[in-house]
Amino acid sequence: MKKYVVAGWLLFSAFVFSQKFEGLALTPPMGWNSWNHFGCDVNEALIRETADAMVSTGMKDAGYRYVNIDDCWHGKRDSLGFIHPDPDRFPSGMKALADYVHSLGLGLGIYSDAGWKTCGGRPGSRGHEYQDAMIYAKWGIDYLKYDWCYTDGLKAEGAYLTMRDALYAAGRPVVFSLCEWGNDNPWEWGKNIGHLWRTTGDIAVLFDGEVNHGTWSSWGVLQIIDMRQGIRIHAGPDHWNDPDMMEIGNGMTLSEDRAHFSMWCMLAAPLIAGNDIRHMGRETRDILTNKEAIAVNQDSLGIQGFSVMLLDSVELWAKPLMDGDLAVCFLNRAKTEKALQFDWSKNPIMDEFAEKEFHFDKAVYRIRDLWKKKSAGSTKSVLKRKIPSHDVVMLRLSR
Ligand code: GLA
Repeated sequence: MKKYVVAGWLLFSAFVFSQKFEGLALTPPMGWNSWNHFGCDVNEALIRETADAMVSTGMKDAGYRYVNIDDCWHGKRDSLGFIHPDPDRFPSGMKALADYVHSLGLGLGIYSDAGWKTCGGRPGSRGHEYQDAMIYAKWGIDYLKYDWCYTDGLKAEGAYLTMRDALYAAGRPVVFSLCEWGNDNPWEWGKNIGHLWRTTGDIAVLFDGEVNHGTWSSWGVLQIIDMRQGIRIHAGPDHWNDPDMMEIGNGMTLSEDRAHFSMWCMLAAPLIAGNDIRHMGRETRDILTNKEAIAVNQDSLGIQGFSVMLLDSVELWAKPLMDGDLAVCFLNRAKTEKALQFDWSKNPIMDEFAEKEFHFDKAVYRIRDLWKKKSAGSTKSVLKRKIPSHDVVMLRLSR
């Protein structure tokens, strides 16, 4: 009898104490993160002003929800091992900041690292996982990005499991973002641990190329898109491939920003803005808040788009959507303008993974241009467009 009680308890505790918070990211998470624009220069005024801007710019209305503080918010651990925010940068403390962000109907995110130190050299969570998770819950944190610096000797899956369990035990639902750069194929084991996992090293403010930092590189938008093949089968509601936070508004051309955003929508990528949204121009704002493009990203089927074909440097991407719709994106990868002529009737689009087929010779689809925000005829006619270098034509097809 006793052994059944023990077995029952073990089963019960495995279920109750070790799981991720389900259902927090049924569509890709949307928000903002400090790192891409501000690096280590974070403080409470920036976070408050950014939360305000999230509302005043219409980003909240477009679906953005999380305001995420990346590296370097940390002060020291106290004699009991509890972490405190940097008192000069966050004098009011994290609880007050979280209360403020919550008062605007938004969530607050924070950053830590599975190793002994964060990438910026601040205290990591190694050995303090349950303490840190408890403190985050007390502060009212809603999102944790968990990095992978200074982890010599650790196995990624185990380290991330520990933090998942710590967050769960602390009891406050937290979106858990795994950031180990795709080193150990997190798409193969991340689904039951977190809600999203980085698939590559860091993005750069660059559309096509590599920035060499000596011991590591950061990557252009095209490189990140190309880097991992075949991993779309691992993504879906509540578990997303994360090709990194966006660089829109950080210095690429308007075409490049538009193409970058369109592709993140096509890839069902988390949409985490990485610019200074307090001072962005209208064009940047219009890209980040394009609701029709965002609807492609947030489609409830949660199918990650795929590359269909390459036509003289113009890559055709497709993403099946609810109600039999299809998003398509023609991405001009070239450094020159390209003239596109696309005969739908001769090019059926087949998605073997999602088991969806689109035969334009048998069924006519209406076309909506998601950047011009108007209808663009139907698949009966050949599509003819000039696409500027590093720009896109993004369409939604409906019956
Ligand atoms: C790593 C991550 C980045 C950022 C920095 C912070 O490089 O991949 O996204 O969080 O650390 O130091």
